[in-house]
Amino acid sequence: MKILVMGPPGAGKGSQSAKIVDSYKIPSISTGQMFRNAYEDNEPIGIEAMKYIKNGELVSDEITNELVRLRLQKNDTERSFLLDGYPRTVTQAVALDGMLKKMGTDLSAVINILSSNDVLFERMEARRVCKECGATYHLVFKKPVVEGVCDKCSGELYQRADDTLESVKRRLEIYETKTKPLLDYYDKKGILYNINGMQSFDKVYADIELVLRDL
Ligand code: AP5
Ligand code: MG
Ligand code: ZN
Repeated sequence: MKILVMGPPGAGKGSQSAKIVDSYKIPSISTGQMFRNAYEDNEPIGIEAMKYIKNGELVSDEITNELVRLRLQKNDTERSFLLDGYPRTVTQAVALDGMLKKMGTDLSAVINILSSNDVLFERMEARRVCKECGATYHLVFKKPVVEGVCDKCSGELYQRADDTLESVKRRLEIYETKTKPLLDYYDKKGILYNINGMQSFDKVYADIELVLRDL
C-alpha cells in the first residue's frame, strides 16, 4: 500500500494519517512533521525550513525532494508507506514519480480530503500540537484530558508557528495555486479519491477505509 494523503492546510491530513498508519502498520512520511522535528532538534535543515514555514511559504523543492528521497531509501518503505503533505508542487510530483520508478513501484491511491475555508480557519486556530510526539489536538473537537498536556506522552502542547491568521491565509493561497493543480495530475492517472473532510473524525476515517480496503 503506497498512498498519498492530500488536502488543504487543516483538512485533517495529519489526524487521518495517524489513524491509517496505526491500523495498517505502515511508515508515515510527513514532510511538515519532519521539518518541525528537525527544527526542534536544532538541525540546520529545520532552522532553514522554519524561515519559510512560519510565514506560510513552501520550503524549496530541492530541499524537500532530497528529504523524501533519503527517507524512501530506508528499508521500511519497500512494501508500504503513507506520504502526508508531499508532493505539493508539480515539480515535486514529477520528482516523486522518478523516485518510485527507480524503486520499481508506483502509488496505489491518492486520498484527497476536502473542506471549506471557514472550517479550515477554525480548525487551525484551535489546533494544539504535542512538542514531544507531534500528536494533534483541537480545543473543542479533540481536547486533551489535562489542558496543555499530551494524553499520549505527557509532552507540552503548543500552537504551531504557522497557525497565525496571516500564515494560514498564505498557506491557503499557496494551496490553491501550487498544490491544487496536482489533483488533476493524479485524477488523470485514475488514482484520485475525494473524501468529505467536514464530517466527524470517525466518519472521515470510515470513508477512507472504504477506499483502502479495495486496494
Ligand atoms: P504541513 O505540516 O504539512 O501543514 P499543512 O499542509 O498546512 O497541513 P496541516 O498540518 O496544517 O493540516 P492537516 O491537514 O494535517 O490537519 P490536522 O489533522 O492537523 O506543512 C507545514 C509547512 O511545512 C508548509 O506550509 C510548508 O512551509 C512546509 N512543507 C511541508 N511539506 C512541504 C512540501 N512538500 N513542500 C514544501 N514545503 C513543505 O487537523 C487540523 C485541526 O483540525 C486539528 O486541530 C485537528 O484536531 C482538527 N480536526 C481534524 N479533523 C477533524 C474533524 N474531522 N472534525 C473536527 N476537527 C478535526
Ligand atoms: Mg498536518
Ligand atoms: Zn505527545
